[in-house]
Amino acid sequence: MHRETVLTSADLIWPLFVTDGAGVEEPIGSLPGVSRWSVDLIAARAKEAVALGIPCLALFPNTQSDRRDPIGTEALNPDNLMCRAIRAIRDACGDSIGVLTDVALDPYTSHGQDGLIDDAGYVLNDATVEVLTGQSLNQAAAGADIIAPSDMMDGRIGVIRAALEGAGHANVQIMSYAAKYASAFYGPFRDAVGSSGLLKGDKKTYQMDPANSEEALREVAMDIAEGADSVMVKPGLPYLDIVRAVKDRFEVPVFAYQVSGEYAMIEAAVAVGAGERDPLVLETLMAFKRAGCSGVLTYHAAHAARLLNG
Ligand code: PBG
Repeated sequence: MHRETVLTSADLIWPLFVTDGAGVEEPIGSLPGVSRWSVDLIAARAKEAVALGIPCLALFPNTQSDRRDPIGTEALNPDNLMCRAIRAIRDACGDSIGVLTDVALDPYTSHGQDGLIDDAGYVLNDATVEVLTGQSLNQAAAGADIIAPSDMMDGRIGVIRAALEGAGHANVQIMSYAAKYASAFYGPFRDAVGSSGLLKGDKKTYQMDPANSEEALREVAMDIAEGADSVMVKPGLPYLDIVRAVKDRFEVPVFAYQVSGEYAMIEAAVAVGAGERDPLVLETLMAFKRAGCSGVLTYHAAHAARLLNG
């Protein structure tokens, strides 16, 4: 009766990795229990999500290495893995599930950075925004419901919003990765999208310093002013103070990403008998809700939904 927070499967967004080929399920070593799926098998995952009451999927491609180049050209291909996966999900599930698509160039660049780089390797903000805008339009045309820029360039939300309006995609939402930190928790994700072996240096010139929280509020304020429908904080558990600060300051839906390294930590604890999976999963997800999240992106989404649905 006195419980303040409720967690249900409707609070979960399930990230899925897409790979080339047919009939392919590739387990990801650093993310035990998570696989890359070929486009033909993604539809079955989407149907599973619908059956579990998960309202939204988040898609990430492992682009074929011969299709990666320094400027991420493949991001603009209307038949890239992402677009094919969106269409397959739409064919299988109609409008019964939401599709959120990642906007950033790291799964498409031969250097693993989220944007275009200069000779010194520095990521170029404005030139990158142009490509991200094309990438967003490409995903919207394929049927994405929510565009989720995870690149952390400045000014991209306003430019992408205007482009979506101009191209007749007024109903496509933007969930901005507004407060995304240059974190050590992204390692397994980079394995999953195949960028870890390519990445030189780090992403500290565009992702945030973990020491900062006021900057997070400035980033969120800019993205809301530019037209974001919802904002995200990432990583999750180590940054719940940021979630709460954003929620207290702004009247928008706030999401958080329980990222790959957080998932891997839970699985590693389970593997050595240091904790039990089910209560760890449910406690951590409840903590996100308590901190003020409208929903959580988590690789444990399907498992958690099964637990929550009894
Ligand atoms: C890249 C992107 C990253 C994640 C989501 N989008 C990694 C990065 O910024 O290097 C990380 C997600 C995770 O670790 O689960 N644009």
